[in-house]
Amino acid sequence: MTKRVFVTGDKHRTFVPLFGLAEKNELRDTDILLIAGDAGYVWDESYIYDINSLQQIFPGTVAFIDGNHENHELLNSMEVSMWNGGKVHKLGERVFHLMRGEIYSIYGNNFFTFGGARSVDKDRRKDGVSWWKEEEPTNSEIEYGKERLLNYADKIDYVITHETPLSARKHISRQKPIDDGYTLPQVFDDWYSILTKSERFKKWYFGHMHVDKEITNKLYGIHNDIRLIDTETSMRWI
Ligand SMILES: [Fe+2]
Repeated sequence: MTKRVFVTGDKHRTFVPLFGLAEKNELRDTDILLIAGDAGYVWDESYIYDINSLQQIFPGTVAFIDGNHENHELLNSMEVSMWNGGKVHKLGERVFHLMRGEIYSIYGNNFFTFGGARSVDKDRRKDGVSWWKEEEPTNSEIEYGKERLLNYADKIDYVITHETPLSARKHISRQKPIDDGYTLPQVFDDWYSILTKSERFKKWYFGHMHVDKEITNKLYGIHNDIRLIDTETSMRWI
């Protein structure tokens, strides 16, 4: 039986889309659901209830990168272990946080992941309660990611990020990027152009923009859709 990997976008601590997925599919314990950041399930000390709910609804493994709206302090305090060749924060037996700049080999495909982004609403949020400074990748995290990406560029099949490459933004948002030293979208643009030179590279999924939109045949904004990797199947639940 084919082993399946699903990918979806920002969930912000909601469970309804997962119930939808479970209702319409016979889910298996080998299924893996990847979330492209702003999962939101680790938000406060009651996170364990959310993790248990995820494990009850989804019989397989849930693995998410961090977005901007996560409790980064709590996430970073979790036990680090290895999962499919890369470092993760282990949140439950079948729930993992995929870390910045790691590569995971999942059912024959290699996934490069890089979470984090800057909140546009951070002025309305409270430090340590609804906003954490670690949302934005540090220079050393970016350097680590770049080094891994360059070393393994010809072996990477998929990329999952929360932030959006700069070139994709003009297809989505009319907002002009503010020149305030925030460079992650530009960095991702550079990484995207490196990867597109590799024959193996298949697709880059990003969250954050709350769109389900194909930007190019290798760059996809993911939000409500739950897409089956390696096929063109896409399910919309909301
Ligand atoms: Fe976000």
